[in-house]
Amino acid sequence: MNEIIITTISITGISAIFAFLLTLADRTIGNYGEIELNINDDKDYIVQGGSSLLSTLIDEKIFIPSACGGKGTCGYCKVKVLEGGGPVLPTEIPFLTEEELNNHVRLSCQCKVKDKIKIEIPEELFNVKEYFAEVEVLEDMTSVIKRVRVRLPEGEEIKFKPGQFIQLKAPLYEGNDEEVYRAYSIASAAGDKNNIELFIGYVPGGKCTTYVHKHLKVGDTVQINGPYGDFYFDDESNREVILVAAGTGIAPILSILKHMREKNINRKARFYFGAKTPDDLFLLDYFKELEEELYDFKFIPTLSRVTEEHNWTGETGRVNNAIDKYLTDSENKEAYLCGNEKMIATMVEALMDKGIPEELIYFDKFD
Ligand code: FES
Repeated sequence: MNEIIITTISITGISAIFAFLLTLADRTIGNYGEIELNINDDKDYIVQGGSSLLSTLIDEKIFIPSACGGKGTCGYCKVKVLEGGGPVLPTEIPFLTEEELNNHVRLSCQCKVKDKIKIEIPEELFNVKEYFAEVEVLEDMTSVIKRVRVRLPEGEEIKFKPGQFIQLKAPLYEGNDEEVYRAYSIASAAGDKNNIELFIGYVPGGKCTTYVHKHLKVGDTVQINGPYGDFYFDDESNREVILVAAGTGIAPILSILKHMREKNINRKARFYFGAKTPDDLFLLDYFKELEEELYDFKFIPTLSRVTEEHNWTGETGRVNNAIDKYLTDSENKEAYLCGNEKMIATMVEALMDKGIPEELIYFDKFD
C-alpha cells in the first residue's frame, strides 16, 4: 500500500516539475522580445516577437487578405519577406509558384516573427481599414442568395474601386468554434462611401455563409475589413465593356455598372449573366432601369436548365453560347468576369476565341 502511495506521489511530483519546465521554456525560449519590422523600405515598427507575421501586422492595423483565419489553407495571405521570417515551411509550398518562391513570397500566417524582419506589401494595403458596421438590410434574392447592406459608423468612410472585395468576419456562434474571415465582392457604388452591399450565397457547412444566412439579423454589428483586390474597372479606358457573371459573381459587376451610372460613363456595355432557371434570376427590374439610364447597356440573362413549364423566351444554354451569338467582333473591347474557376476558364477561352486579347480579360475567380 505504501509503495502505491510513494509511486503516485513520485509521478505527480515529476509531472509537476515537467509542467513547470515547459512553462518556463515557453516564457523564455518563446519570448523573442521586441523586434524591428520594416515595410517597403519605408515604414519601421517595433513589434512583439513570437507571433505569426499575419497577426503581427493585424496588431499594427495592417490587414492582409486571409480567408482561413491563419490556418495556412487559403493561400491568400502572401507577402514578400526580404529578410528574416525563417525558412519556407512545407505548409506554404502548395500555395507558392516557382516564381513566387524565387521572389521571396511567403504565406504571412505561416511565417513567424522571431528576429528582425523586412517585408514588402502593396501600398494599397495601408488603405485597408477595419470597420464595425451595422446591418441595415438583409434580403433574400433567391433561395440561396442574400443581399446584405451594412452602414459604417458615423464619420467613417471606405474608399474602394468598383470590382474590389472586403472581408467579413464570422464570429463564434453555436456550431462555430473559431472566428474566420471570408472574402466577398462589394456590390455597392464606389461613390457610396458610408455603406457596403454584398451578395452572399449559402454554402452548407460554410462558417461565414451559415452565420449570414442563419444567425445574422438587421441591427447586428458586423466586423469587416477592406478594400482588397486587383480586379477593378479601368476608368482610363474607352473600350466597350463585356461583363460576365454567374450567381453571387453579380456583385462586382453591379458595382461596375453603378459606377458607370454615377460617373456618366459613355461606353457600350453588355452584361451576360448565367443561371440555371428563372428562379435563379434577380434584380430584373433594376437591370431594366439601367438599360434605360446607361449610355448603351443590355442585360442578357442566359439559362442553362429551362423546361417548357418555365415559359422562358430569353437566351438558353451556357453563357459562352450567348457570347458566341452576340459578340460579333473583338474590336476595342475589354471584359470583366466573375464566377467560379470552371466558368472563368470557359469564358476566357470563349472570349479569346472571339479575338479579345488575354490582357484585356480581367477576372475575379472564387471557389
Ligand atoms: S491566412 Fe489562409 S493561408 Fe494564410
